[in-house]
Amino acid sequence: MPTSPRSVRHSQTTLTELMIPAYANFGGKIHGGTLLSLMDKVAYACAAKHAGEYCVTVSVDGVNFRQPVEVGELVSLMGSVNYVGRTSLVVGIKVIAENVKTGVVKHTNTSYFTMVAKNEAGEPTEVPPLLLETPDDARRFLEAMKRKELRAAYSEHFDNARTAMLLQENMAALAGERCVVGF
Ligand SMILES: CC(C)(COP(=O)(O)OP(=O)(O)OC[C@H]1O[C@@H](n2cnc3c(N)ncnc32)[C@H](O)[C@@H]1OP(=O)(O)O)[C@@H](O)C(=O)NCCC(=O)NCCS
Repeated sequence: MPTSPRSVRHSQTTLTELMIPAYANFGGKIHGGTLLSLMDKVAYACAAKHAGEYCVTVSVDGVNFRQPVEVGELVSLMGSVNYVGRTSLVVGIKVIAENVKTGVVKHTNTSYFTMVAKNEAGEPTEVPPLLLETPDDARRFLEAMKRKELRAAYSEHFDNARTAMLLQENMAALAGERCVVGF
């Protein structure tokens, strides 16, 4: 059931976790998948708190790890609802990693999770509007609208390009690429 607007603050969530050796890859750095899993948890917590319903992850935008995360660092994931549609929400997550000995803090990435609220029957269900209390809240909402618009345009453009792409006519574009044609 739709309710009165809920503020961004209402569902803002921070998760802090120590990076233990079990999270590391063979190179000694933290697995990207470990961070993704933590980000998904924060996205769920924010979305479910805003919606007051069970939520599912639909898509993830902008996952670019700028710097590796090391074992022993404290990773904090700060999530807040940036945008609300009818049944979907976009949760922005900023990830930072802190070296507790030196105090150096790295911004590893900022990503955007689109979540959809579901009712008891498993159908998408309406979520409360978002109360924008600060100029930053409004800026993030507007940026999310722009990302949604650009993503739709990109999808359409790419689908058209793929449909129009004929293999034989485009094989020449492989010349100079690091691949070997074996057929
Ligand atoms: C996402 C899902 C609910 C969409 O179902 P649907 O029947 O197509 O429902 P709708 O078309 O009404 O879309 C529901 C909302 O999702 C949004 N949506 C659907 N696909 C999307 C996508 N690829 N990216 C962003 N938003 C998307 C729609 O815009 C709509 O938002 P709105 O209500 O705010 O306008 C359905 O595909 C699903 O359940 N997917 C599995 C999700 C899941 O289980 N994730 C866990 C990982 S396995």
